[in-house]
Amino acid sequence: MIRLENVTKTYNKTVKALDDVSFNVKGGEIVGFIGPNGSGKTTTMKLLTGIIKPDKGKIFVNGFNIKEDPIKVKESIGYIADSPDMFLRLKGTEFLQLIGDIYRVPTEDRQTRIESLAEKFGLTKALSSPMMSYSHGMRQKMMVIAALLHKPPVWILDEPMIGLDPKSAFELKQLMREHTKEGNAVFFSTHVLEVAEKLCDRVIIIKNGVILYNGTLEELEKQNKNESLEKIFLELTEK
Ligand SMILES: Nc1ncnc2c1ncn2[C@@H]1O[C@H](COP(=O)(O)OP(=O)(O)O)[C@@H](O)[C@H]1O
Ligand SMILES: [Mg+2]
Repeated sequence: MIRLENVTKTYNKTVKALDDVSFNVKGGEIVGFIGPNGSGKTTTMKLLTGIIKPDKGKIFVNGFNIKEDPIKVKESIGYIADSPDMFLRLKGTEFLQLIGDIYRVPTEDRQTRIESLAEKFGLTKALSSPMMSYSHGMRQKMMVIAALLHKPPVWILDEPMIGLDPKSAFELKQLMREHTKEGNAVFFSTHVLEVAEKLCDRVIIIKNGVILYNGTLEELEKQNKNESLEKIFLELTEK
């Protein structure tokens, strides 16, 4: 459902953020994207959503080439950006209505969906206040709800657990599992190895814009004589 072929991205003609990156994420898979700060995770995710464009390479989402069908790609994606600080002057409900309009979520569907997601993340009472007054965690939860409102098949989540309380993190992980059980794809970045260990069918480890590993965590541990994941990760990314 996600495919990158030989993608290269340079910022300001000098900073090479991605260097010949290729990978895919299939329907039914939760794939974790792991790497130290500045390794190219956010850049990859922004390329997948069409926010930025690659210098070279091809990108496909849900069967659509992003260059030829950018709108189809955007309709296919639920994206959580790395910062939840946006539209802060809007009230929670206003923000979700705006998102519902942009993604053309039918009005009948929209209200029940907003209510059930808000309930899941404990935001029902907060919806009538401006998002300016929300804590970081509440804003992050609003981003989760907004990303899922139009029932996108492909989820692209940039560090989605940051700022979530344990219950909300649990709910989100649960949603990720249910989503992939229905044959959809989840691609998310994380710093937290334990989260990747519990949740992912596969991980992709990136450093300096180059993919160092793409496979299951069991295989990675086997290759490294059953050392702890933390140690393997540090050794891999510090070389
Ligand atoms: N808008 C930008 N302009 C210039 N350099 C950028 C920009 N965004 C990211 N970079 C650089 O690209 C590299 C990858 O960054 P990023 O994709 O944000 O990494 P990650 O999300 O893994 O922390 C870093 O060296 C970063 O400094
Ligand atoms: Mg990032």
